[in-house]
Amino acid sequence: MCPLSQILAFPGQGNLLLLWGVLLLVVSSPSEGQPPPFERFASPDSLLTHLAIHNKTGEVYVGAVNWIFKLSSNLTKLRSHMTGPVVDNEKCYPPPSVQSCPHDLGQTPNVNKLLLIDYAQNRLIACGSTSQGICQFLRLDDLFKLGEPHHRKEHYLSSVAESGTMSGVIISSPQNPTSKLFIGTPIDGKSEYFPTLSSRKLMENEENADMFSFVYQDEFVSSQLKIPSDTLSKFPAFDIYYVYSFSSEQFVYYLTMQLDTKLTSPDASGEQFFTSKIVRLCMDDPKFYSYVEFPIGCTKDGIEYRLVQDAFLARPGWQLANSLGISENEDILFTVFSQGQKNRAKPPKESVLCLFTLKKIKEKIKDRIQSCYRGEGKLSLPWLLNKELDCINSNSLRKGWMTERGKGEEESVIEH
Ligand SMILES: *[C@@H]1O[C@H](CO)[C@@H](O)[C@H](O)[C@H]1NC(C)=O
Ligand SMILES: *[C@@H]1O[C@H](CO)[C@@H](O)[C@H](O)[C@H]1NC(C)=O
Repeated sequence: MCPLSQILAFPGQGNLLLLWGVLLLVVSSPSEGQPPPFERFASPDSLLTHLAIHNKTGEVYVGAVNWIFKLSSNLTKLRSHMTGPVVDNEKCYPPPSVQSCPHDLGQTPNVNKLLLIDYAQNRLIACGSTSQGICQFLRLDDLFKLGEPHHRKEHYLSSVAESGTMSGVIISSPQNPTSKLFIGTPIDGKSEYFPTLSSRKLMENEENADMFSFVYQDEFVSSQLKIPSDTLSKFPAFDIYYVYSFSSEQFVYYLTMQLDTKLTSPDASGEQFFTSKIVRLCMDDPKFYSYVEFPIGCTKDGIEYRLVQDAFLARPGWQLANSLGISENEDILFTVFSQGQKNRAKPPKESVLCLFTLKKIKEKIKDRIQSCYRGEGKLSLPWLLNKELDCINSNSLRKGWMTERGKGEEESVIEH
């Protein structure tokens, strides 16, 4: 069970509450002999977008525009599988195979946006940008296509073609043949079609009609968060970009970038500011009540770096562990941030590598949840709630939220 599963809400945005990273400068050490040359893999006519490394074989799966590649651990190409271009029009919904499309169709490049190894079923999940974001299942051995579900609206995961903005985590359990797929994606204003965050059933059989249906769904609540239309009417450009995700213990985490609605004026002519967050959900919380988000960024020489570019969770080697004074068994989140808060699409070249221990992140989130339960600070979830709400002492919380949100809304944010 989830120890903290409580509010969904969240942390203050003031700079004081920001989780600042430990900064690490990486300097290549001048070595005596020549280091062995890096192995290379290049695909001359296809932009590479994603990478998944098999944790046993070391084989490398690469997602690209119109292609999926399988490489050996020394980066020799073993297999390739073509995914595009596809006859499509981004305005068509659902794809033409299901319903005829009134718009002109044309050859459309298929950008790989999500590439995950499903160890439990020995297959690769590769989601593209065409047909509103449908996914292929490929056999790990030879990239043979096992299926491409596209008949139901749950099969369309995202229509945004930009790579590096969608992220997913697979949660499998030995007892249950149905795994869960957590997906975070930008929605490009289409909140009626796409939840920004959801958990889906990952069926054993690719043809199973339940593939990608919500883990939980009843009249009022389901395993998804949508960006409310109120938020989109106030900030038409509002969106959430999911840069990285991982699971640890009973939680699923995301690193995201989103429009900073405090700094950005609603009138669309003004400059846009962005901010990065770490988002957390309990794996076993199908109603998403445990959703929390927390600002994350770095500072160096008094300059803020708030645009997360990428991240990776790993254990430190002994030298790094030593220099940070932590154990080699501690999980570290390695992150890269670009300077400032402007220009998400074309971030400044000035960037820093920052390290956070997962332990510290968890402590911060826990502290903040506890202080909110004591009634301190604000919930700070303006994009979801559309207003700033004070944290309420936990005894009155349930009643407060019920009144605030109304009973029949699609996503509920109250505690159990
Ligand atoms: C590889 O990852 C899967 C899924 O996370 C896990 O169940 C398995 O134990 C891992 N295997 C190794 C050798 O680390
Ligand atoms: C790289 O891997 C391939 C396939 O596993 C193997 O045939 C080849 O000998 C390896 N090359 C080198 C230089 O190790």
